[in-house]
Amino acid sequence: MDNIIVVNNSILLNSLTKLRDKNLKSSQFRKEVSNIAKILLFEALRNEETEMRKIQTPFVESDFPSLNEDEYVLVPILRAGLSMMESCLKVLEDAKVGFLAIKRDETTLESKVYYERLPHLEEKTVIILDPMVATAGSITKAIGIIESHNPKKIISLNIVVSKVGAEKLSKFKNVKFYVGSAGEDLNDKGYIVPGIGDAGDRCFNT
Ligand code: PRP
Ligand code: URA
Repeated sequence: MDNIIVVNNSILLNSLTKLRDKNLKSSQFRKEVSNIAKILLFEALRNEETEMRKIQTPFVESDFPSLNEDEYVLVPILRAGLSMMESCLKVLEDAKVGFLAIKRDETTLESKVYYERLPHLEEKTVIILDPMVATAGSITKAIGIIESHNPKKIISLNIVVSKVGAEKLSKFKNVKFYVGSAGEDLNDKGYIVPGIGDAGDRCFNT
């Protein structure tokens, strides 16, 4: 499972513990999700290639390393992935954003794609945003769609991944997953336990 990186960071763990509290208000839930998303993004891009850019500092003109931000495409999976988008966009201000709306049927747990709006992905690094990977049905659909657009690289940021989900993700050798927790159980309704509950409902107060 060397494509799944469990990010070991005390601030992230502190936020994740807050998310597990069923009494956390929606506004606080979104805030902690945003914190975690940013930490996962920092880790995912830690060793990204930079290019030198000429900058006039207050004293001299010189070349400094910089990221080509518009080579990145964030793809939040609606709904819950939206809660990770803002903080990532604050870090990568010039990133592009594409959208995939995917919903699990609550009885069959089958995921259905009901909206797809992606920019050109060729030569781009795509960063999938979805807090939860339970059966991995939704993210598998997302990766399939994204791969069909031939991006340069695919990264996925996920807060909680179940054990079953992690086994499925390990088969996507060309995708790197940066996650807050991996290996939690799935209950008979397809929810991650202990987990953080229904992330979409908790983010959007429904
Ligand atoms: C949640 C979550 C993931 C999916 C994970 O979305 O945001 O996309 O479930 O489950 P899976 O790994 O078993 O597919 P959901 O389908 O509940 O939609 P929502 O975000 O609109 O609530
Ligand atoms: N989707 C969620 O939002 N939470 C889970 O625990 C499983 C799937």
